[in-house]
Amino acid sequence: MPEWEEVITPGRFDGQTVIVTGAGSGIGRATALRVAKEGGRVIAGDVSQERLDDLVAEVPDLGIVPVAGDVSAEDSVQRLVAAAGGRVDALANVAGIMDHFHGLHELPDEIWERVMAVNVTSVVRLSRAVLPLMLGAGRGSIVNVSSEAGLRGSAAGAAYTASKHAVNGLTRSAAVMYGRKGIRVNAVAPGATVTHIEAPMDSDLAKEVIAPLFGAVLPPAAQASELAASITFLLSRDATNINGVVLASDNGWNAI
Ligand SMILES: NC(=O)c1ccc[n+]([C@@H]2O[C@H](COP(=O)([O-])OP(=O)(O)OC[C@H]3O[C@@H](n4cnc5c(N)ncnc54)[C@H](O)[C@@H]3O)[C@@H](O)[C@H]2O)c1
Repeated sequence: MPEWEEVITPGRFDGQTVIVTGAGSGIGRATALRVAKEGGRVIAGDVSQERLDDLVAEVPDLGIVPVAGDVSAEDSVQRLVAAAGGRVDALANVAGIMDHFHGLHELPDEIWERVMAVNVTSVVRLSRAVLPLMLGAGRGSIVNVSSEAGLRGSAAGAAYTASKHAVNGLTRSAAVMYGRKGIRVNAVAPGATVTHIEAPMDSDLAKEVIAPLFGAVLPPAAQASELAASITFLLSRDATNINGVVLASDNGWNAI
């Protein structure tokens, strides 16, 4: 693929407070950095204190506010919103985990419950917490990170696939419910992206059925900053007329 270089748009998020989850690594980290470099006050959530410390240490002058905690738990969500100090212009729900490619017949309860908690419940809890602030302000933008697995049944196991389809549903429901109140809610569906996400294929069924499909259609992996470019566009006011979309950012995988 041709080389891509991130170009900062100075001031695009000036005066705005933006919560980004999963900010310690990969797509969330790239999104937090992009927003902060473009003038936004970033409240950075991640379950890993160490990763957040690294992020802040890398750019100490950008004023990123780290809030460590499990974003599927209500107390962490409340701490993130409290750190925003009564104003949230935009929210990027990026934190997520993969499953182990289990099919339904072999899906362990603990994987189902954890994947749904981190990928779906966190989006419910955090959106629920910031929407009253956005409604009060009469404006706001939420971007949820979905996946290629939210667009098709052949990109992950049952739990992750169901979780990302649920993210799309939450996105569309909220877009309709709050669109006329000035709040836009969109999703980005990344294809393969170079990050630290773990995706062990622990299923013989997936090795037989899914793995060969990857070999046939998977486009080259993107850099996390390329996903941040898509996410920050939808977060920004340039996306003014866009509400309720699930935007594939996947090098064209969705078209195959
Ligand atoms: N990397 C890909 O190929 C890919 C493809 C499609 C979708 N996605 C989605 O992109 C999002 C970001 O993933 P990534 O690839 O950047 O992964 P990553 O593992 O590099 O980063 C995810 C971050 O989220 C944090 N996190 C995990 N669970 C958390 C929790 N309960 N509370 C708070 N923070 C938590 C992790 O500590 C990590 O820092 C996820 O929603 C993932 O499903 C990734």
